[in-house]
Amino acid sequence: MNINSVATTPFKDQKPGTSGLRKKVAVFQSPNYLENFVQAVFDTIFGNAAAPPDTALVLGGDGRYYNREAIQIILRMAAANGVARVLVGQGGILSTPAASCVIRKYATYGGLILSASHNPGGPEGDFGIKYNTANGGPAPEKITDAIYARSRELSGYRIVDAPAVPIDKTGNYRLGEMDVEVIDPVADYAELMEALFDFGAIRELLAGDFGLCFDAMHAVTGPYAKEILERRLGAASGSVINGVPLEDFGGGHPDPNLTYAHELVEIMYAVDAPDLGAASDGDGDRNMILGRGFFVTPSDSLAVIAANAILAPGYAAGIAGIARSMPTSAAADRVAEKLGVPCFETPTGWKFFGNLMDAGKVTLCGEESFGTGSSHVREKDGLWAVLFWLNILAKRHLSVEQILIKHWAEYGRNVYSRHDYEALPSDIAADIMAHLKGRFGELPGQVFGDYRVKFCDDFSYTDPIDGSVSTGQGLRIGMDDGSRIVFRLSGTGTEGATLRIYLEAFEPDPSRQGADAQLSLAPLIAIADELSQLRQRTGRERPTVIT
Ligand code: G1P
Ligand code: ZN
Repeated sequence: MNINSVATTPFKDQKPGTSGLRKKVAVFQSPNYLENFVQAVFDTIFGNAAAPPDTALVLGGDGRYYNREAIQIILRMAAANGVARVLVGQGGILSTPAASCVIRKYATYGGLILSASHNPGGPEGDFGIKYNTANGGPAPEKITDAIYARSRELSGYRIVDAPAVPIDKTGNYRLGEMDVEVIDPVADYAELMEALFDFGAIRELLAGDFGLCFDAMHAVTGPYAKEILERRLGAASGSVINGVPLEDFGGGHPDPNLTYAHELVEIMYAVDAPDLGAASDGDGDRNMILGRGFFVTPSDSLAVIAANAILAPGYAAGIAGIARSMPTSAAADRVAEKLGVPCFETPTGWKFFGNLMDAGKVTLCGEESFGTGSSHVREKDGLWAVLFWLNILAKRHLSVEQILIKHWAEYGRNVYSRHDYEALPSDIAADIMAHLKGRFGELPGQVFGDYRVKFCDDFSYTDPIDGSVSTGQGLRIGMDDGSRIVFRLSGTGTEGATLRIYLEAFEPDPSRQGADAQLSLAPLIAIADELSQLRQRTGRERPTVIT
């Protein structure tokens, strides 16, 4: 077996964002691009040497265009870098939470996940790669920074000459000195879900007249949802729609929100809508939950799951704590307070939850961006959230909407919305942020209609476990009554800049909790525009996406 050392000129643009390195497919296809990054990962995690003896890695992706080619390249590079064994999902498929599950279950050194999450796929779409560590979670900033530094300096990579591994059939193969085990991508994950949720109760619910629609958006969760929801739990065949993963997600944008999951939204707002609607994204870590004609914000979903957690066998002993990203609404904080458990506010990105979960400080985590999960893995988990809702519905015998109405009556409602302005010229977006920050000195104490500004800051976070500090995590404007406006630039967009504005107003009065969120938030939306001069500076009349 020949180990080739291929010379490269290092790349300067391989800085991993909030969830790994994401670029257009064409960029990944350019000579040595993927190879350079993968070698930078190996050099970083193996200390510029061959992998330690018996090193095993997990490898899989969301099945998007270029997944299969990338898998073969990475396998040949892993062999050349001394990796002893790679577990690959059949067909190159592993949802992000399933990859996390497999890393943990088989105690591997780590894993490489190929995905650009919810970004469109296909030859014109996006591709991505990220490294997860032995705890199953995304590598912390310390490691991603080191990978980035290495990617800018290395002058060559190692790869063996070998024929492609037949990844479409489960079984054991050899690649040079390395073992390749092609595994069923669903089995380990499905087993974990059975251990966490009351499958008996859910089966009974689904055997009755309860209707379920799960939209896999032609992305990775199709096979997972069919196996778990239809086969193991007995949901009617056809409950899973768009269940065949396609390399370009059928031309769609595999992001489970009200804009992109419009097929599901139409079904759930029709007269004969089923009882629960849900969707997941490209790599299966996001979720959207809908009742009949009713949208559950992800922030509320986290709070409801927390409040009802003990109904699921895996959480029957109670939860240790909750963590939410800063822009996520404080609905979960209210539940944590009542339960007498801590609630942590972290920067955006799942990686910030890892330390808290490893230290046993939190059980549940969530982000407003349709991400919910728990310490069962170290990624957010779309299907897990759907199963949690099914478990709650099976035990409470209420509709999704009734559950929310009761929840708000008990805890108050954190009315919430996010406005995204996508593909803005980067300099204009940066100017808006700089201008806003420049006004922070004068804002506290100022009155805008019913609101008085209490504080403004640029959010920074000190990790309570390892003391690491993350600064510049979003501009917060907090009002006296707990309402908030947050401005943040996306770290995952691949075209220009995406500006996200997060709006949150607290409504304790049940008689006003049912109002339309955009109406309730209108005063805050106006303040956000006035403070940022957004419309004037961008020429945009409205956000690209409202959730
Ligand atoms: C977005 C979400 C963030 C999430 C990330 C990865 O990042 O806002 O919550 O962790 O995708 O799924 P952003 O584009 O805002 O940086
Ligand atoms: Zn995702």
